[in-house]
Amino acid sequence: MPFDTQALNKQRQNLADYDEIWLFGYGSLIYKVDFEYEASEFAYIENYARRFWQGSHDHRGTPDNPGRVLTLIPEKSARCFGRAFKVSHDVFAHLDHREKNGYLRDEIAIQLTNNRVVCGLVYIASPDNAAYLGEASISSIAKQIFNSTGPSGKNRDYVYQLAHALREHNETDEHVFAIEQALIAME
Ligand code: SIN
Repeated sequence: MPFDTQALNKQRQNLADYDEIWLFGYGSLIYKVDFEYEASEFAYIENYARRFWQGSHDHRGTPDNPGRVLTLIPEKSARCFGRAFKVSHDVFAHLDHREKNGYLRDEIAIQLTNNRVVCGLVYIASPDNAAYLGEASISSIAKQIFNSTGPSGKNRDYVYQLAHALREHNETDEHVFAIEQALIAME
C-alpha cells in the first residue's frame, strides 16, 4: 500500500449510498475539528483498542524523523471511546487528505448515546501500510514522540490534547495515559 491513501479511499465506499454519514474519531479527530458537521456526540466502538503504532511523516514528524500517532488494533472485548460526527459527504475530500498517511476508511458500528447504533466510517491505519511502525515499549514510544515535531506541531501535544479530551469526558485509556506520564517525566 502506498504512503498516500487518497486515491484508494476514493474507491472504498460510495458515499452517496449513505442516508446519513457518521464519522468516528478516536485520535486527533476528537480535538482538532477542522471540518463542518451537523451533530456530534461522545461515542464508542467495540473490539478495537487505540495504539501509538502508526508513523506520522506529514503531521507530527517528518520523512526523516517520523512521529507516532494513533491507529486502531483489533482487540476482543475492548471498547474505544471517541467522538462521532454526523457529516456530509463533502467533508471527505478534506479528511482523506488529512488522513492520507496510511489510513483507509472502514465501515464500523458506532455506539451512540441512548443505545443507538449506526453504521459509520472510521480511518484505520493497518499493519500493511507503508507508514506503519508497530508495537514498541511505552518508553521507546514516548522517547520517539518526545523528539518529534512536524507541520502540525509537536508530537507530544497530540498526546496531551487527546489525554485532556478523554479526561474531560471522564474516560480513561491506559495506553494513552501511560505515554502521557512517560512524556511528562521527560519534560
Ligand atoms: C482519528 O482521529 O480518528 C484518526 C487518527 C488521527 O487523525 O489522529
